[in-house]
Amino acid sequence: MEESALSFWMYLGVMSVFFGWTVKRILASERSSAPTLLVYSALFLLMESLCSFCLPTCVGLGVFCAACWLIMGTVAAAKPLPVEGKAVFITGLWGLVNNAGVCVNFGDAELSLMSNYRGCMEVNFFGTLEVTKTFLPLVRQSQGRLVTISSPSGEQPFPCLAAYGASKAALNLFINTLRHELKLWDVKVSIILPSSYKTGQSRNVEYWEEQYKHLIENLSLSLMEEYGEEYLLETKQLFFQFAETATEDLSPVTNSIAEALLSRQPKVRYYAGQGVGLMYFIHCYLPVSISDRFLQKLFMKKSVLPRALQKHNNNNNKK
Ligand SMILES: NC(=O)c1ccc[n+]([C@@H]2O[C@H](COP(=O)([O-])OP(=O)(O)OC[C@H]3O[C@@H](n4cnc5c(N)ncnc54)[C@H](OP(=O)(O)O)[C@@H]3O)[C@@H](O)[C@H]2O)c1
Repeated sequence: MEESALSFWMYLGVMSVFFGWTVKRILASERSSAPTLLVYSALFLLMESLCSFCLPTCVGLGVFCAACWLIMGTVAAAKPLPVEGKAVFITGLWGLVNNAGVCVNFGDAELSLMSNYRGCMEVNFFGTLEVTKTFLPLVRQSQGRLVTISSPSGEQPFPCLAAYGASKAALNLFINTLRHELKLWDVKVSIILPSSYKTGQSRNVEYWEEQYKHLIENLSLSLMEEYGEEYLLETKQLFFQFAETATEDLSPVTNSIAEALLSRQPKVRYYAGQGVGLMYFIHCYLPVSISDRFLQKLFMKKSVLPRALQKHNNNNNKK
């Protein structure tokens, strides 16, 4: 290929890439697009002519890339939607934020009462399902946003949170299915996955003591015998210790909610808080042996074995 033809295609390639990005940014910004596009096209063509006619190919291409980069940078990033008026109430409801949720128990899955499983499901899954179904027609009308506060325990098997985690997993699946279906209606759906925060429920020691008492009173004799109260007490202590490390500043969660409601392109998932993104990475991309060990070290620094296992180990040692 002749040098001039090669140079033409190279300039065209560079210009297409940068111009494509610029068009994308202009369309996402709040400028009126047609006149702005004309101005930017003229700028790109002017720079291309100057560089290709006045400079040798290599230097010209370098200068052209730099110029395109600078031109592209002058397009302001997309602004969030305005809160006033249209963004909040158009003809229906702009945003539904599903926040209500409970964690009614901690402890091994086998020890958790059926009422705990049902309690979590009732509020976290069925409650959210009902509210969503009630308000969805209004959200569809305004092509608005559906934002749901779930939990990383709905994605990863956190020890001692089976009842809560299972209800949030069911919730995640429901919301993710809706996300696909609502694309047709131009409704954007996001899930927020907060790390550990000191909120009403988690720091209410009396509430947890009450839950613990309820568990002890309702556990079958055989399970109580096999696990032993010292095992349950240690789980409670570990739970309280873990709750102490929770964060007070809720801004990562509230900022994520605001972004999910007002950004033009909200994310599907928001990992709100320190370490949640890392936990997700470990769970999804590292071998199961590593992610299992990570979760055990994070939540289950247990030193007390269930009573039946202690007896079993003692018998083995005597042999
Ligand atoms: N805190 C954390 O570390 C953490 C971590 C991950 C996910 N989350 C999730 O974040 C969301 C908010 O929880 P939070 O930590 O802020 O707890 P919270 O302070 O106890 O708030 C729970 C909220 O849920 C409402 N609620 C509970 N049961 C309800 C019911 N049966 N009907 C209607 N509303 C009910 C409560 O309403 P009332 O005030 O009227 O009782 C309260 O507004 C939950 O979905 C939770 O699973 C929290």
